[in-house]
Amino acid sequence: MDEKKKTIFSGIQPSGDLTLGSYLGAIKNWVALSDEYNCFYCIVDEHAITVRQVPADLRRRTLAQLAQYVACGLDPEKNVLFIQSHVAAHAQLGWVLDCYTMFGELSRMTQFKDKSAKNADNINAGLFTYPALMAADILLYQADLVPVGSDQKQHVEICRDIAMRFNNIYGDVFTIPEPFIPSTGARIMSLTSPENKMSKSDKDPGGCIYIMQQPDEIMRSFKRAVTDCDTERCVRFDPAEKPGVSNLMQIYSCATGRTMDEIEAEFEGKGYGVFKPAVGEAVIEMLRPVREEAERIMKDKAYLESIYRAGAEKAEAVAMRTMRKVYKKIGFVAR
Ligand code: TRP
Repeated sequence: MDEKKKTIFSGIQPSGDLTLGSYLGAIKNWVALSDEYNCFYCIVDEHAITVRQVPADLRRRTLAQLAQYVACGLDPEKNVLFIQSHVAAHAQLGWVLDCYTMFGELSRMTQFKDKSAKNADNINAGLFTYPALMAADILLYQADLVPVGSDQKQHVEICRDIAMRFNNIYGDVFTIPEPFIPSTGARIMSLTSPENKMSKSDKDPGGCIYIMQQPDEIMRSFKRAVTDCDTERCVRFDPAEKPGVSNLMQIYSCATGRTMDEIEAEFEGKGYGVFKPAVGEAVIEMLRPVREEAERIMKDKAYLESIYRAGAEKAEAVAMRTMRKVYKKIGFVAR
């Protein structure tokens, strides 16, 4: 830990396989931050169990996600990569913060309302107190910045409210974090319903591309991607009028580094039948080295284990410092 650098914390739930959306919208940006900041990237398995998981799948996806983080370019020497349940302080601070989080506040969270509508048979207390655990994740590391998608902004806001409430009672215990929405961060939409974010919980499997997907499946999804039913049928960037085509252009731009103007020029006079496979091909080539590297790492169990062990140790050292301070401030007797 370099005390002069600012700290970043972010996490992704291992509740599904990593998508092209999380790669382009999150992980790819994280890679660029590792020199300038102290970065903690967590696999939040404790959050994932707020929705029922199949144990074997959860275990496999947690390890696969770690392998994919590394394969995407997150250097485990420069970033602290770890699994949430390996650092007990998350659950410990989560409980403390539950007692400083109001029922009314939690009731207003849009993710709680959405998820309880989707999981009507399992509206458990963890789903309700999810934001307090997320606040614990962030505050344990005294994070300054939290890179998140716009859907998670409300959770960072409540984290700030909880931290300020705590600091008002006990003095400066927590750093007040800011949401960090990288300006280059692409918001990738579903290929079949481009008005919705690309999501692993998309009901239509063709709407979502996964980092580990095979080339022929990726190509099939791009060929079937929804384009817009306007009459001009040309490749033009216009997210309001042409959400489908604009999303594909966004993806193509990320994969090739070309600007929207360059892409429009490249496909001038060519139809969607040429454009869509070209996007598919570019994505396949972008993901190929990532997939191959992740497959290689997944087979090297000893390497994977050494990464999450070292990550948990580094994370724990920082987390325990905050935890001791918190316990002391609230009046717990030191053991
Ligand atoms: N709630 C986040 C999501 O669903 C995941 C998450 C948990 C997280 N803890 C975090 C993100 C802390 C950033 C910081 O996407």
